[in-house]
Amino acid sequence: MNLLQRPRRLRGLPVLRKMVRETRIDKSALIYPVFVREGKNLQEEIPSMPGQYRYSPDKLLFALENVLETGVSNIMLFGIPSQKDEIGSGAWDENGIVQTALKQIKQHFPELYCITDVCLCEYTSHGHCGMLEGSCVNNDKTLPLLAKTALSHVRAGADMVAPSDMMDGRILAIRELLDEHHLYQTPIMSYAVKYASAFYGPFRDAAGSAPAFGDRKSYQMDYHNRKEGIKEAELDLAEGADILMVKPALSYLDMVRELSERFLVPTAAYSVSGEYSMIKAGAKMGWIDETSVVCESAASVFRAGADILITYYAKELAGWIEQGRIG
Ligand code: PBG
Repeated sequence: MNLLQRPRRLRGLPVLRKMVRETRIDKSALIYPVFVREGKNLQEEIPSMPGQYRYSPDKLLFALENVLETGVSNIMLFGIPSQKDEIGSGAWDENGIVQTALKQIKQHFPELYCITDVCLCEYTSHGHCGMLEGSCVNNDKTLPLLAKTALSHVRAGADMVAPSDMMDGRILAIRELLDEHHLYQTPIMSYAVKYASAFYGPFRDAAGSAPAFGDRKSYQMDYHNRKEGIKEAELDLAEGADILMVKPALSYLDMVRELSERFLVPTAAYSVSGEYSMIKAGAKMGWIDETSVVCESAASVFRAGADILITYYAKELAGWIEQGRIG
C-alpha cells in the first residue's frame, strides 16, 4: 500500500506518544472540594461518596496536610452548619462554619489557596439556594445575602469566591460589595453554566442540602440548552466574573469547549459528586478499572478546553500525574 499518511507512525513507542501528546495535565490546575462541619474530632465518611469525608475544623487541618503533600495546592470549601433557618443566616455569620474553618486553615497553611462555595442551600431550612417568597425563590432579595456571604468569606481569609446559586445578577452584587470594601484583588469564579442535574445527588446527601420541596429548575439551567449557557457565561463575564465554570463536567464537555473558545477568561469544569460516585461504584463492583477511568475522564475535560478541573479525585490524580499514568 502506498500510504503517505500513516497516523500509526506516531503511536509506535511510549516516548513518541508522550512527545506528540496534545493535552498535558498539571497538578496546579486541580482543585479539591472539601466538606467542613461543625463539631470537634469528627471525620465522617459520606456513604454515597466513599473516600470523601465531612470533617470538623480540627480534623480538616490533618486532612489538608495530606492534600498539600500530594502536591494539590487549591481547595474548594463547603460548609455544613449545625443549624439552619429560613433565610440561611449561618452563611454570612462571621463565626459560621466556613469562616471559622478558614481562619484556622489560613493560620496553619497560608500557602493553601482557598476558594469558597457561595450559596445558601446548605444553610436554609428549606434547602433552596435563595430566599423564599411563598414557594418561589426571590431573586433580587437573595442577592444582598449572597454578597454578604462572599464578603464574610473573604474577611475570614478566602482567596477566591465561587457563587453557585444561579441567581441573576449575583456576580455584579458580589463584585460591587467586595469593591466597596476595597477587596479589588479577590477573584470570582462563577458557576456560570450550571445545569439542574441529577449528578448532584450524592453531594446533597453529603451536605444535607436537598430541597425540602420542589426542585432547582427555576434557577439552575435546563440540560437541553446550549445557547442559554453561552448567554449565562456572557452575562457573568460582563458582571465581572474572572473565571467561568461549567458544571457538571462529563456530560457537558460541549459547553466546556464552547466557553473555552469563546471567552478570554479561564474555563473551569466541575466533575461533580455523581460522576465520582459512579466511578467508585463501578470500580467496587469490579466492572471498571478506577485509575484508568479517572485518568481518561480527567484528560477528556482538559482536551475539551478546560484550564481548571475541580474534582474529588484531585489527590489521586496528583499521584497518578507524578507516576506518569496521566499527564
Ligand atoms: C450548592 C452546590 C451544589 C454543588 C456545588 N455547590 C449542589 C446543588 O446545586 O444542588 C454540587 C457539587 C457536587 O455535586 O459535587 N448550590
